[in-house]
Amino acid sequence: MKTKAIILSAGKGTRFKSKKPKVLHEILGKPMLFYVKTAVQWIKPDEVIFVVGHKKDEVIKYIDCNRCVVVEQKEQLGTGHAVKETLPYWEDFDGFLIILNGDTPLIKGQTLKNALEYAKAMLLYEGANIDTYSPSYKNEKFAGVVLTAKVPNPQGYGRVIKDKNGKVLKIVEEKDATLDEKKINEVNSGIYIFYAPYLKEVIHKLSNKNAQGEYYLTDVIELLKREGKEVYALEIPDYTQILGVNDRWQLSSVENILKMQYLHFWALNGTTFHNPESIWIEFDVQFSPDVEIFQNCIFKGETIIGEDCVIEANCIIKNSKIGKNVKILANSIIEDSIIEDGAVIGPFARLRQNTVIKQKAVIGNFVEIKNSQIGEKTNARHLSYLGDATVGREVNIGAGTITCNYDGFKKHKTVIKDKAFIGSDTMLVAPITVEEEAMTASGSVITRNVPKKALAIERTPLKIIENYVEKRRKKYKDNE
Ligand code: UD1
Ligand code: CA
Repeated sequence: MKTKAIILSAGKGTRFKSKKPKVLHEILGKPMLFYVKTAVQWIKPDEVIFVVGHKKDEVIKYIDCNRCVVVEQKEQLGTGHAVKETLPYWEDFDGFLIILNGDTPLIKGQTLKNALEYAKAMLLYEGANIDTYSPSYKNEKFAGVVLTAKVPNPQGYGRVIKDKNGKVLKIVEEKDATLDEKKINEVNSGIYIFYAPYLKEVIHKLSNKNAQGEYYLTDVIELLKREGKEVYALEIPDYTQILGVNDRWQLSSVENILKMQYLHFWALNGTTFHNPESIWIEFDVQFSPDVEIFQNCIFKGETIIGEDCVIEANCIIKNSKIGKNVKILANSIIEDSIIEDGAVIGPFARLRQNTVIKQKAVIGNFVEIKNSQIGEKTNARHLSYLGDATVGREVNIGAGTITCNYDGFKKHKTVIKDKAFIGSDTMLVAPITVEEEAMTASGSVITRNVPKKALAIERTPLKIIENYVEKRRKKYKDNE
C-alpha cells in the first residue's frame, strides 16, 4: 500500500511574534520542521508534500529531501484549505495520506509507523486484503485514523468527540466548543492517516462557517461520517509526542522535554550528568561511555565527546571532537576544534576556529588559541594568545606569550618547532619561525627567525641604580 505524507507549514505562527517562520524556529539546534520531516521518513513515504505559504522562500530553502514536492498555499485559510491545495498530487492516488502539522516536533517516527500499521490492520479487519488491494475496497467503511492523546491541559487543542462505542463523531476546535466539550481532555494531535480516495470525496465540502472563519481539516471527520465512513481515534499513551508549538513558551517546554529525553538516552549509554536540568545538548551531539559532565555545560552542533572524558562546570563545546580521557576544566569554551586523547584544557581556556590540540598537551587558564595546531605534550599553561600558529611537540609556551599574527591587513603564521622553549611574555611577531630546541628570553619581542638550539634575547641592558630611594627622597626634601 502506497503512502504520501503532507506536512502543513504555511501558517503565520502569529503567536510567535517573529520575523522568522514558525516552523524554522529551532529546537536543540534544528528547525522544528526538521523533526517532523525526520519522523515522517520512518514510514518511507512515496512522496512528501510540504505546504508552504508565509515566508515561503525561507521555508523552501530548508526543505531539501528526496521525493519532496512543495505546494504553495497563497492565503492561509485554514488546515483544510491547505490540504485541498495539495489535491493535484493525490487526486488519483490509491493509498494512504498521512497528514501532519509542521508544529508538532516531538512526534516519534515509531509512532507514525505504528499508526500506519494500525491503519493497514483496520483495512484487513474491514475485510480488505492489503496485498491484493483493489478498488472494490471503496465500499468499505474505514476511512482513516486520527492520532489523539489525553493531555493534562487541553486548552487550544481540538477536542475529540466520540460516541458510546468509542468511534469518533467529530473534532471540535477550542473556539467552537461548548463548555461540556471543553472538559474533554482527549485532543487531536493534528496527525491523521486518510485513505486518499475517501478524503478526496469530502475535501471540497469543507466550509468556513465557524468561530475562526477557517476551513478546518478536522471537519472532514464529520463529513466522512455523513458519507457512512469511519475515522478511528488512535490514542497515544505518551501525550508529550503530540504537543503543538504555537508560541515561544511552548517551544521552550517542548525543547526541555526533548533535551531531557536525549540526556536520558546518553545517560543510559554510560554518561554521567550532574544536575542534568542545567545541561544543554543539541541534536547532533554524541557522548561515549564513562564520560562525566558537570553542571551548566552546553554542547552544540556536531560535537563528539570521547570515552573517559571529564568536563567540569560551565563549559561550552561547539562543533568539536574531543578524544578519549580529555579533561576540560571549568569555564572553558571550545569551538570548531579537535582535542586529542589525554589533553587537559582550562580552566578558563578558549579554543576556536580549526584548532587542533594533540595528545597530552596542556592548555591552561586564560589561554586563547585560534586556527592553530599544538603538538603532543606541549604546554601553554597561562595567559597566552596563539593564533595561526603551528607548534611542535614538547614545546613550553611561557606565561604571557603572544603570537602577533595580525598586521592590520593580513594574518601571518608563527611556527614553533619541537622542544622549543618560549620564555614568559615573548612577543612573536609573525611571520616567524622558532626552530627546534631554540629558546626565547622572557620579555623579548622576536622579529627574526630563531635558529635551532639558539637563544633569542631582545632586551635593553638592565641598569641598577644603587640607593635610588634615598637620593629621590633627598631631592624632594631639598625642594621643599
Ligand atoms: C490544529 C487543529 C487542532 C489540533 C492542533 C494540534 C485544525 C483546524 N485544528 O490547531 O484540532 O488539536 O492543530 O496541534 O486543524 N497551517 C497551514 N495553512 C493554514 C493554517 C495552518 O499550513 O491555512 C499549518 C500551520 O503552519 C501549522 C498547522 O497547519 O503547522 C496547524 O495550524 P495551527 O494554526 O497551528 O492549528 P491549531 O490551532 O494548533
Ligand atoms: Ca498548532
